[in-house]
Amino acid sequence: MRPAIIFGTRPEIIKLSPVIRAFLNKGIQPMLIHTGQHYDYEMSQVFLEELELPEIDYHLEVGSGTQAEQTGFAMIKIEKVLINEKPDVSIVQGDTNTVLAGALASVKLLIPVAHVEAGLRSHDRTMPEEINRILADHASEVLFAPTLEAKENLEREGIRRNVYVVGNTIVDAVLQNSEIAEKKSKILSELNLSPKEYILVTAHRKENVDNRDRLTKLVDILTSLPLTTVYPVHPRAEKKLKEFGLWKRLEKAEHIILTKPLGYLDFLKLEKNAKIIMTDSGGIQEEAIILGIPCLTLRYNTERPETVKAGGNILVGVEEELALMYVRKLLEDEKFYQKMASARNPFGDGKAGERIVNILLALWEEGKLKVPS
Ligand code: UD1
Ligand code: UDP
Repeated sequence: MRPAIIFGTRPEIIKLSPVIRAFLNKGIQPMLIHTGQHYDYEMSQVFLEELELPEIDYHLEVGSGTQAEQTGFAMIKIEKVLINEKPDVSIVQGDTNTVLAGALASVKLLIPVAHVEAGLRSHDRTMPEEINRILADHASEVLFAPTLEAKENLEREGIRRNVYVVGNTIVDAVLQNSEIAEKKSKILSELNLSPKEYILVTAHRKENVDNRDRLTKLVDILTSLPLTTVYPVHPRAEKKLKEFGLWKRLEKAEHIILTKPLGYLDFLKLEKNAKIIMTDSGGIQEEAIILGIPCLTLRYNTERPETVKAGGNILVGVEEELALMYVRKLLEDEKFYQKMASARNPFGDGKAGERIVNILLALWEEGKLKVPS
C-alpha cells in the first residue's frame, strides 16, 4: 500500500507522528506532503526534528492567506502531487484548512480519504474548523473517531461507512514523548519556574484573538491571575495583541512570562508541571486531561465535550469573574483540585496510531480501500 499523509500545521504534525511511526514499524514509507500552512521554524520544523520524522517528500509552501486563498492554493498544489503520485489513500488529521484541501483534492481524484480524529463537533458553524471537520468527514471513506461520542456525531449525520473508534493519537504522542521531555527539556530552569507554581496559558483561536473585545477580555483575565503565568504566544495571537495595543499590557504584568511558541518537549514539560492549564486549543484540552492537569477552557463551546463530562475541563469563555472564581477555587480547595486532576482520560490507551495503520492495511488487503463507483 502507498499511503499519502497530508498535513500542514503544528497539531497535525504532532498527532500524525504516531501514525507515521506505525507505518514505518510495518516497513511502509508513507509519502509526506506538507502544505506549509505553518512555516515558522517554531510552528513546524521544530516538531519534525523533535519527533524524528522522515524527510518530507513535498513542501508545498502554501503559507498564510484568507480562508479561501489558503484552502484554494493548498488544493491546487495537493492535486498536482496526487495526480503524479497516485497514492492508494490520503490520510488527513483534524480540522484545519489543510485537512479540507487534502480531503477535497483527493476525493475528487477518486483517491479514498482516511480522516483521523473524525466526528468532532462543536455545533458552532461560525468556526472555520467546524466547517472543515464536517466537510472532511463527508468526503472521507474511512473515519477514525477518537471516542464513541464522535462516532455518534457521524451517525447523526448519516455517516456509517468504515467508522472505527480508535482513541486519539494525541495519547500516543504524549506517551511516546513524555519521558523524553522529562529528561531533555530544561524549560523550567530556563524560565525560572517551580513545578505546580504556575498557570500555563495558550490562546490563538480566531474567535478569541481576531475580535478586539474578546481579546481585551482575555487580557483582562490574564493580567488578573493570582499566580505566575506562562504564555507561549502563537503568531496569530501575537499579531493581533500588537495590532489592538494589548501586547504591552501583558509585557508589563509582572506575573506574566511571554515566550515564543515552544517545541513539543518543552511544552509537554510545562504542561506536566503546571498547576492549572488555561487554553482555547483543542489538543491542549486533550493533553491536560491525559496528564491530569485541571483545564479551564477559554471558549464557550468545545468539540471535546468528553473532557467536560469526565470532570477535567470547565468552559469559562472569556468571562473574567467566572474564570477567576475557578482559578481561586483550584488554588484554595484541594478536594476540588484533586477531583478535576483525577478525571478519567476519555481518549484511549495510546495505541491509536497502530490501530489506524492495521485497519487501513486490512481494508487494503481485502480490496475495500477504494471510493465506491
Ligand atoms: C490554524 C487552524 C486552527 C489550529 C491552528 C493550530 C485553520 C482554519 N485553523 O489556525 O484550527 O488550531 O492552526 O495552531 O486551519 N502565522 C505565522 N507563522 C506561521 C503560521 C501562521 O506568522 O508559521 C500567522 C500568520 O499571520 C497567519 C496567522 O498566523 O495569517 C494564522 O495562521 P493560519 O494557519 O491561517 O491559522 P491558525 O490561526 O494558525
Ligand atoms: N504546542 C506546542 N508548543 C506550544 C503550544 C502548543 O508544542 O507552544 C502543542 C501542544 O502540546 C499540542 C498542540 O501543539 O499538542 C496544539 O496545537 P494548537 O494549540 O496550535 O492547535 P489546536 O490543537 O487548537 O488545533
